[in-house]
Amino acid sequence: MNNAFARASGRPATRPRSRTALISAVVGLALAATSVVVASSASAATTLGASAAEKGRYFGAAVAAHKLSDSTYVGILNREFNSVTAENEMKIDALEPNQGQFTFTNADRIVNHALSRGWSVRGHTLAWHSQQPRWMESMSGTALRNAMLNHVTQVASYYRGKIHSWDVVNEAFADGSSGARRDSNLQRTGNDWIEAAFRAARAADPGAKLCYNDYNTDDWTHAKTQAVYRMVQDFKQRGVPIDCVGLQSHFNPNSPYPGNYRTTLSSFAALGVDVQITELDIEGSGSAQAETYRRVVTDCLAVARCTGITVWGIRDSDSWRSGGTPLLFDNNGNKKQAYNATLEALNAGGTTPPPTTPPPTTPPPTTPPPTTPPPTTPPPGGAGCTASISLNSWTGGFVATVRVTAGSSQLNGWSVNISIPGGSTVTNTWNAQASGSSGNVNFRNVSYNGTVSAGTTTEFGFQGNGVGPTATPTCTAS
Ligand code: G3I
Repeated sequence: MNNAFARASGRPATRPRSRTALISAVVGLALAATSVVVASSASAATTLGASAAEKGRYFGAAVAAHKLSDSTYVGILNREFNSVTAENEMKIDALEPNQGQFTFTNADRIVNHALSRGWSVRGHTLAWHSQQPRWMESMSGTALRNAMLNHVTQVASYYRGKIHSWDVVNEAFADGSSGARRDSNLQRTGNDWIEAAFRAARAADPGAKLCYNDYNTDDWTHAKTQAVYRMVQDFKQRGVPIDCVGLQSHFNPNSPYPGNYRTTLSSFAALGVDVQITELDIEGSGSAQAETYRRVVTDCLAVARCTGITVWGIRDSDSWRSGGTPLLFDNNGNKKQAYNATLEALNAGGTTPPPTTPPPTTPPPTTPPPTTPPPTTPPPGGAGCTASISLNSWTGGFVATVRVTAGSSQLNGWSVNISIPGGSTVTNTWNAQASGSSGNVNFRNVSYNGTVSAGTTTEFGFQGNGVGPTATPTCTAS
């Protein structure tokens, strides 16, 4: 709730979370004060959202726009939750039914319902192999890559400043033991489609947290979990902008809650990303179901960077798996045992909020800090640097990755000149500061990657419209 409140208030998108702790504390104090007045003795919060907010977290629900006229549904939503995810309305087929024609009406109903109440919104989802409109399903290659990046850019730009976290890419890994990417038309555009989507999303909405979201990634020992972990680790090491991992956590007898769930949460968190439980539902009933909900919530609260939980629907009858009665409210909207266990676990979960430091709007360093002081006199011969460039191009656009390599001496700053072909422009740069966007563009190191030890390399990148550069870049030590 705190972040949504902050983002909805119109603060600059590039520093959206600097006052989160203060707002959280104020909200927490206000809620605690209300409890004292109403209940006079107990300090425990009485709703899921209020309790989660006391811990600096959100508690959300997947919402369908057409149910916002159902008074029972909206009554529970408004009372219990402080975050929403559109169940279907922000998917690609819903937002871009015809190429280049965007339809935001239903999604806006959900977003506005949430923001007007100070809640946060999870955006779901910018790039996915499923629920693509017909025109996209039939595309391939560079045309599809371009269309996907355009969709990411247009949608994230439209909602800029309103979305707490985007599921930038959804369900891109295969089930089973392979640990491979899922085959799809998007995957066949090239293995870098995921990072290209993340870079486009960062450029369009620098203040939103950018998540990779998937299912069957709850059990730490599963090949799919490990494969996603390795991708996130690789992204963090190379400076691909990623801030969070979403675990859908659809639990049922074929895919039960794993005893090592907390290990999964904490392992992802240790990579330096937030972890969010994004589509929680647990099939079953009675005390068994309730205890599993209790465990999931307790595990999340035990991991500082597990920052929120979203259940995938409100009443059992709202669920995509209604036969499994997997949610917190029965078909009539009454609280189930699962609800009571969830609220108890939230209230019992201590008061340690997750860290409130903002995500980087530029990626983290890709080289370690210097371990030796810089030389005070220029070294003899062989100093300086070289740069090389590799391109991923498609019709109308490109992503360039530039490697800067130090010569025989440590660099304490560098500058790379790259000639951009006529008619082409640089639209987005990471790990470097660009001056200009066309013609001869200069890229200088940013604060964290100017120091490059002798013989080692750091990387930066940029995205552009038109044709990518072909001339060899020139590198200068500065
Ligand atoms: O709205 C139409 C209706 O007009 C039509 O008569 C009916 C006939 O089938 O279909 C309705 O649309 C359905 C839509 O849900 C709304 O109910 C679609 O067919 C159906 O495919 C769609 O299912 C959604 C599913 O994603 C699609 O992949 C579920 O509601 C939604 O809960 C589910 O959510 C996914 C997450 O996005 C990703 N993770 C898994 C999760 C569960 O499958």
